[in-house]
Amino acid sequence: MKAIILSGGKGTRLRPLTHTGAKQLVPVANKPILWYGIESIVEAGITDIGIIISPETGEEVQAKTGDGGQFGANITYILQEKPAGLAHAVKVARSFLGDSPFVMYLGDNLVQSELALFLEQFATRSLDALTLLCPVPNPSAFGVAKIDADGKLLQLVEKPKDPPSNLALVGIYIFTPMIHDAIAAIQPSARGELEITDAIQTLINWQKPVEARQIRGWWLDTGKKDDLLEANRVILDTCLETSIQGDIDAESQIIGRVQIGEGSKVLNCTIRGPVTIGKNCYLENCFIGPYSSVADEVTLIETDLEHSVILKGAKIEGIHKRIVDSVIGQRAHLKEAPRRPKAFRFMIGDDCQIEVV
Ligand code: DAU
Repeated sequence: MKAIILSGGKGTRLRPLTHTGAKQLVPVANKPILWYGIESIVEAGITDIGIIISPETGEEVQAKTGDGGQFGANITYILQEKPAGLAHAVKVARSFLGDSPFVMYLGDNLVQSELALFLEQFATRSLDALTLLCPVPNPSAFGVAKIDADGKLLQLVEKPKDPPSNLALVGIYIFTPMIHDAIAAIQPSARGELEITDAIQTLINWQKPVEARQIRGWWLDTGKKDDLLEANRVILDTCLETSIQGDIDAESQIIGRVQIGEGSKVLNCTIRGPVTIGKNCYLENCFIGPYSSVADEVTLIETDLEHSVILKGAKIEGIHKRIVDSVIGQRAHLKEAPRRPKAFRFMIGDDCQIEVV
């Protein structure tokens, strides 16, 4: 069994963060989203992993993730020249996959699932495809499945206006090589992409054994700011373990589950977990409240923060209001005048959202 993780495409929904970086590398609880997928695949016993990358962000994905050694995996990078669809990505990975059955994992998905359990069902029921489903309130935003009482897939539609159920396709699929024949038989959809849903529908039309299972844990789509904050909250809530490295002075108070990376300095701060702070950060006179993730090399001075994600190298100084529900990009710099400001002076990139509330 092999696996491919789709980490190409264009991250238009998380702009402006993804103007400069891959959406799959946006960190949740200080770990790139993509890495959660790799870890879950390795945990299920698959170590031969192909990662689909795009010309725009592929180098960054590759530099950050490496050859897989740190995950106990062997990673091969596969370039997809254009984001021509999920089934197109499988086509591009054909020589890597050979005639092996494989897991296809969308690199921007965060799923709490026991992949091993689904692999076992795929094998014991001799399926050609197994898809995972999750009930959602807004099925039109996803691929949607109609199933019978035994979990047999009857129909699949991509982002339907009139959804046949509330069961969305989670971005994890298991296939035999039969899927390559189905992909060869489909045409690009109205949005110009080779859709994996059309390929699976083709297997259904050919009367091949195709089933679906509902996942039991959470599934987090990290496409938009609030989704990212929610993913950050859930991961900090469920996975964060206390680990304090760095330098904490006697005036600081650390409460609850808090992680602080090596080389970080914390002076006269209150940190109330769950909170994760990366390596080589500098925090002085701050309150860092629950559900905050602060990446490496961040400087926070006189800052009051809660339920927010601060990316690498950002600097926030003397903002005298609490910063909440915020995502601050890499190397961004926020500073307030010492007294009540008479004016704001901004240098804000395209697609940014600023709310003065
Ligand atoms: O998140 C689950 C949904 O993912 C499913 O319900 C849908 O059926 C499925 O089509 C997909 O929809 P999205 O619109 O969310 O797909 P997106 O374009 O965001 O791509 C998903 C991942 O695959 C993302 O990491 C980018 C990567 N990708 C995408 C395309 C179109 C590629 O690597 N190559 C591509 O050509």
